[in-house]
Amino acid sequence: MPVALLNRVVSQVLQKPVCGCPTAIVPIRFLAISPRQVPSDANFHSVPFSNREHPRVLITGGLGQLGVGLAKLLRKQFGKDNVILSDIRKPPDHVYYSGPFIYSDILDYKNLREIVVNNRITWLIHYSALLSAIGEANVPLARDVNITGLHNVLDIAAEHSLRLFVPSTIGAFGPSSPRNPTPDLCIQRPRTMYGVSKVHAELIGEYYHYRYGLDFRCLRYPGIISADSQPGGGTTDYAVQIFHDAIKSGKFQCNLKPNTRLPMMYIDDCLRATLEIMEAPADSLSMRTYNINAMSFTPEELAQEVVKHVPELQVTYNVDTVRQAIADSWPMNFDDSNARKDWGWKHDYDLPELVTTMFNFHNSESRIAHAS
Ligand SMILES: NC(=O)c1ccc[n+]([C@@H]2O[C@H](COP(=O)([O-])OP(=O)(O)OC[C@H]3O[C@@H](n4cnc5c(N)ncnc54)[C@H](O)[C@@H]3O)[C@@H](O)[C@H]2O)c1
Repeated sequence: MPVALLNRVVSQVLQKPVCGCPTAIVPIRFLAISPRQVPSDANFHSVPFSNREHPRVLITGGLGQLGVGLAKLLRKQFGKDNVILSDIRKPPDHVYYSGPFIYSDILDYKNLREIVVNNRITWLIHYSALLSAIGEANVPLARDVNITGLHNVLDIAAEHSLRLFVPSTIGAFGPSSPRNPTPDLCIQRPRTMYGVSKVHAELIGEYYHYRYGLDFRCLRYPGIISADSQPGGGTTDYAVQIFHDAIKSGKFQCNLKPNTRLPMMYIDDCLRATLEIMEAPADSLSMRTYNINAMSFTPEELAQEVVKHVPELQVTYNVDTVRQAIADSWPMNFDDSNARKDWGWKHDYDLPELVTTMFNFHNSESRIAHAS
């Protein structure tokens, strides 16, 4: 479209109606203009969510470590058809048949907008990302997925008055942040593309909230430990792998030093926290990005707990220098007092419960596999 014509269309759309009603909401990319060209009086309204209706939820990047579990939890709460999983990968049968699944590449803005519009989405949970170790191995792709993808999601969420959840991470802090404990507000100078993209997400999400009223909500997750899903290339992956290897071979080679302390959380706590922050009344939130914490341990401490269940386990250390450098720059412990005070966050799993739960899961799985 020629620029002069485009300008005319934009100014017509932005003109106040003769009735004196407020300025029309402009779907910012509908006219193919950049958000940077949105006039300062443009406004996005976050429509208050009715308590009587269930939200219509879209989860992006839903086939990773966290998405399938979150869909299960949300479907229990809001009904199977109200929660749509999406990803760029092909879902396994058990996921495909468990509820709605849609292909969505978050780099494809139009496709994402179409899904949001056609499915009357009201909540968007944005899980697509390249995690820390994978991101360092492919910086341009991590930049595209984690930053450009987020821009698409933000604009669509603002245009369609969605409640938007974007997870952040311990990786959003860096070597100059206080590490034990790390508070919500402190210096954040991460040295990974993953960390940089997550600080960007926190800041631009909060900017859209204050500037346009976008209902942006963000939790900084610790390393997440799950039994039934594989980790996606993060620095804390060792804490999931140890369980698989202990059961399979009784041998585990750890890629971090034995005394590397990091904050961790069992997946059920993480998913419940996500639902709770999404349901929290807006006026209870004194901030839009919160640390959440459960436990903090080193590989050595985890191995000691695992050995109680698999006494023959042999642990060796073969340090991956990239992952170790990342871990050494991250928090050892999170201060999550604001989350506890504002919306009542409380974790259920400490280290012993976590380890017992992981083994109970794996044992019952192997009993099922054995029986069939
Ligand atoms: N798992 C953790 O320990 C942890 C900790 C802190 C924060 N987080 C955050 O939680 C979110 C989910 O984490 P996860 O562990 O499930 O991640 P994961 O790596 O397991 O899954 C990410 C998913 O994103 C998808 N994806 C990649 N490129 C995409 C694209 N262009 N369009 C759509 N989808 C795309 C992948 O196919 C994958 O299924 C991420 O944003 C991550 O940063 C996770």
